[in-house]
Amino acid sequence: MKGLILSGGRGTRLRPLTHTSAKQLVPIANKPILFYGIESLAQAGIKEIGIIVGDTKKEIMAAVGDGSKWGVKVTYIEQDEPLGLAHAVLTAEDFIKDSSFVMYLGDNLITSGVTEFVAEFEKYKPNAQLLLAQVDKPEQFGVAVLKDGKVVKLVEKPKTHISNFALVGVYMFDHNIFKAAKAIKPSWRNELEITDAIQYLVDHNYKVRSHIIDGWWKDTGKLEDMLEANRIILDKIERRVDGFIDSESKIEGRVVIEQGAEIINSLIRGPAIIGARAKIINSCIGPFTSINYEVTIKDSELEHSIILENSSIIQIGSKIVDSLVGKNVQINRSLLRPSAYRFMLGDNSQVGIL
Ligand code: DAU
Repeated sequence: MKGLILSGGRGTRLRPLTHTSAKQLVPIANKPILFYGIESLAQAGIKEIGIIVGDTKKEIMAAVGDGSKWGVKVTYIEQDEPLGLAHAVLTAEDFIKDSSFVMYLGDNLITSGVTEFVAEFEKYKPNAQLLLAQVDKPEQFGVAVLKDGKVVKLVEKPKTHISNFALVGVYMFDHNIFKAAKAIKPSWRNELEITDAIQYLVDHNYKVRSHIIDGWWKDTGKLEDMLEANRIILDKIERRVDGFIDSESKIEGRVVIEQGAEIINSLIRGPAIIGARAKIINSCIGPFTSINYEVTIKDSELEHSIILENSSIIQIGSKIVDSLVGKNVQINRSLLRPSAYRFMLGDNSQVGIL
């Protein structure tokens, strides 16, 4: 069985972070979302993974490399334009050949991994196997209508309510999906929809199994969703301290402190992760906070937040909560006259001031 991870697309919903970075590389608990997908496939015993790439190809290739750090072989497959998930499948036909495969959407996070589902697919050998999850806002997803436990209808982003079962971004297919993807027409949003291709399989009496799961997360592009994913993952971390903690500091609960990080006169309250070479000085961090590598936090308090690499937060008088700070950002107390707020913010930034 092969793996196919979809990491093309434009990521407009996660701006401003995705002005400068692929959405699949936004880190959750200091690890790019995409890496959780690669790990899941590797754990399920998949050795050959194709990654669909688009505009952000260079970045994705630099981050993932040849796959050897996961013990897999990665092949990059270029999709000229993000013309839909079924279009991405067709782009990968030469790579997949007549193998069965797991298609994994690179911006999805399935905390249970996929090992159990791959084993089930191999045991029952359906033509397609879907994962479904109950959601509150089905209009944001593809949904499946079930009858007597069987998938009878699939609709992409339904405008009227027909089901609360969303399609999770992990699908298993045999080679018949290529026939289906070639038979369908682009949707109203001009994409070749995977839901339409699966509907073709259902309509032509192919065997389509489904499985309802818990523990799924998908970015809908909002800050709260990123923080929620961060919470879900941090909730599972185990304590590991490889960095330096001085005698004035206190570490409470499950905290990861990476090599080269320095905690000076500070309180770190888990679950939290402090990245390599980060410096936390006279500060209070956590819970549910991910501080990426080479970040400096000084004389500040931070909770339930994600701070990306190389940023610094210095002498901020009030507690910072529910925040997502990009790379190389500086939030400092200004000593300049006149005493005032001074900003340089990218497009689509959001700031809340006291
Ligand atoms: O996350 C689950 C949902 O994913 C499903 O419920 C929907 O049925 C399915 O269509 C998909 O919906 P989205 O509209 O949210 O997909 P999105 O455009 O975010 O693309 C998902 C991933 O696939 C993302 O990593 C980008 C990548 N992609 C997307 C397109 C359209 C490609 O690599 N190529 C593409 O052409």
